[in-house]
Amino acid sequence: MKLSSKTLSNLPTGIIVPSYDRTKIKTRIVHLGFGAFHRAHQAVYADQLASQFDSDWGFCEVNLIGGEQQIADLNAQDNLYSVAEMASEGWSGRVIGVICRAIHAEVEGIDTVLEAMAEPQVAIVSITITEKGYCYQPATGKLIQDHPLIQHDTTNPRVPKSAPGVIVEALRLRRERQLPAFTVMSCDNMPENGHVTRNVILGLAKLQDEKLAEWIEANVSFPSTMVDRIVPAVTPETLEKIAQQLGGINDPAGVACEPFRQWVIEDNFVNGRPEWEKVGAELVQDVLPFEEMKLRMLNGSHSFLAYLGYLAGYQHINDCMQDDNYAAAARHLMLNEQAPTLRTQGVDLVAYADSLLNRYRNTALKHRTWQIAMDGTQKLPQRMLDSVRYHLANNGNFDCLALGIAAWIRYVGGVDEQGLAIEVSDPLLAQLQALVSGSQEGSARVKALLSLEVVFGNELPQNPKFVAAVTEAYEHLLKFGAKESVAKLAQRF
Ligand SMILES: NC(=O)c1ccc[n+]([C@@H]2O[C@H](COP(=O)([O-])OP(=O)(O)OC[C@H]3O[C@@H](n4cnc5c(N)ncnc54)[C@H](O)[C@@H]3O)[C@@H](O)[C@H]2O)c1
Repeated sequence: MKLSSKTLSNLPTGIIVPSYDRTKIKTRIVHLGFGAFHRAHQAVYADQLASQFDSDWGFCEVNLIGGEQQIADLNAQDNLYSVAEMASEGWSGRVIGVICRAIHAEVEGIDTVLEAMAEPQVAIVSITITEKGYCYQPATGKLIQDHPLIQHDTTNPRVPKSAPGVIVEALRLRRERQLPAFTVMSCDNMPENGHVTRNVILGLAKLQDEKLAEWIEANVSFPSTMVDRIVPAVTPETLEKIAQQLGGINDPAGVACEPFRQWVIEDNFVNGRPEWEKVGAELVQDVLPFEEMKLRMLNGSHSFLAYLGYLAGYQHINDCMQDDNYAAAARHLMLNEQAPTLRTQGVDLVAYADSLLNRYRNTALKHRTWQIAMDGTQKLPQRMLDSVRYHLANNGNFDCLALGIAAWIRYVGGVDEQGLAIEVSDPLLAQLQALVSGSQEGSARVKALLSLEVVFGNELPQNPKFVAAVTEAYEHLLKFGAKESVAKLAQRF
C-alpha cells in the first residue's frame, strides 16, 4: 500500500498529517529542484505555516534535469510525501500536504513549466538545483556564456533548458502579459546566493533582450538565504525504515533528515511572502555573515571530512567522527582557520562548532562522504579558498585547509589508497581527467590542478606560499595516507 489521500487515515498515531483543508492551498511558489533538501526544509516550513497559521502558500514542484522518478512518485500519491526526523533517540514523521502540483520539464514539456510559472498568483520562484545548475563560474560568480545549456538558451530562448533560461523566459511571459514579476529565491549553498542568481539571470537576459533585462532589474528581487539541515541522499534502507515508521505504508517520495534546521532569509520580496518568521525562520537585512559562517564552518569542515574520510575508507561522516584525530582536525579547522575569517557578530562560535560536531555524530544520518565529495569544483571556492585568501593576506596559518585542498586533488586523481577507482562526480570531470592524465604524480599534479582558473582564480596558483602548503600536504598524503596525515596534523594542535 502506498501513501495517498486515501491511506492517510491508516497511518499510525504519532505521524503528523495535514490538519488543514488542502483544497485551500494555492500554488503561490514554483519550486525548481524537487530534491531531498527542499522536501525536508522549505516544504516543512510551509507545511507548519499551513497547519498552525492557516497559510495558503503552497508549491508547484518542478524538476528540469534529473529527478523524473521523484515527480512521478509524487504524482502517484496525490502530491503527499513524508519527512522523517532521525534523532539518535528515535524517529518522528510528518506528512507534507502543501504541494498542489508536480511537473517534470522533460515529461510534460517546457511549455507546461513556463505556463505554471506565468500563473498570476505565483509570487516566488524558489530554487535548490545544486551549485552547477546556475551555470556560473564559482571563482567569479558570473554566468558561463559558453556553457552548452546557456548557448542553447541564447539561441532558443522560447524553449529554454537551463534554470536561468527557464526563469528569464517565465519573466518575459509575465511582462508580456502585464503580470507582476516574482521574487527569485535561491536556497543553494553558495555565498551571496541571491547575487549569484541575479548575476546569471541578468547576464542571460542581457544576451537575449536588453529591454527585458532592464525590466527584470527593476521588478525582480533576489534575496539571499542561508539554509541549514543535513539531508542525506535517500537510500533503499531509508525508504524501508520510513515504511516501517508509516505502519507498512510505502512512500517512495519520502525523505529522512536530522532534527536540526535553520533558515535565515534576506527580507526582500517584490510580490509578498509567507510569514516564515512564525515558524522559526529569521528574516534579516543582511544574510552574508550567516552564510559565510555556515559555508565555512559547516560545509568547509564537511568537505574536509569528505575527502580525507573517503580516502581513509570512512563511508559516512559519523564514521569519521569515530576517529578522534578527524574530530580534532575538524574542530581545529572550524575554530582556528574558518572562524577568524568571519564577519559574524554576536554568535558563540565555539558553541556553534561543538553543536556541528554533535550533529555529525548522529549515527542515524549515514551521510555519505562520497555524496559530499561530489561537485568539488563548485564547492571549494566558498568552502575553503576564500578563507585561504584571508590567511594569506593576514599571515595566518591554514594547514587544515591546505590538507583539505590536497585531499581533493588526491580524490579527483580517481584512484584511492587501495588502488581502487573512485567514481568522481563533477560537472568539470572531463577537464579534471585531462589535467590528471596530463601530469605526473606529485608536485606536477598539484600544479596542474591548481591551474584550474574557474576554481582557483588566477592569483592563488601564483602565490608561492599557497602552492608550497598544498604541495607539502599532498606529498604527505602520498607518503603516509589520509589517516596518518590527519593524525600527524591533529597531534600538532
Ligand atoms: N542535502 C543537504 O543536506 C543540503 C543542505 C543545505 C543545502 N543544500 C542545497 O540543496 C542542493 C540540493 O541538494 P539535495 O540534497 O536536494 O540534492 P538532490 O540530488 O536530492 O536534488 C538535486 C535537485 O537539483 C536538480 N538539478 C540537478 N542538476 C540540475 C541542473 N543542472 N539544472 C537544474 N536542476 C538540476 C535535480 O532535478 C534535483 O531536483 C545542494 O546542492 C545544496 O546547494 C542541501
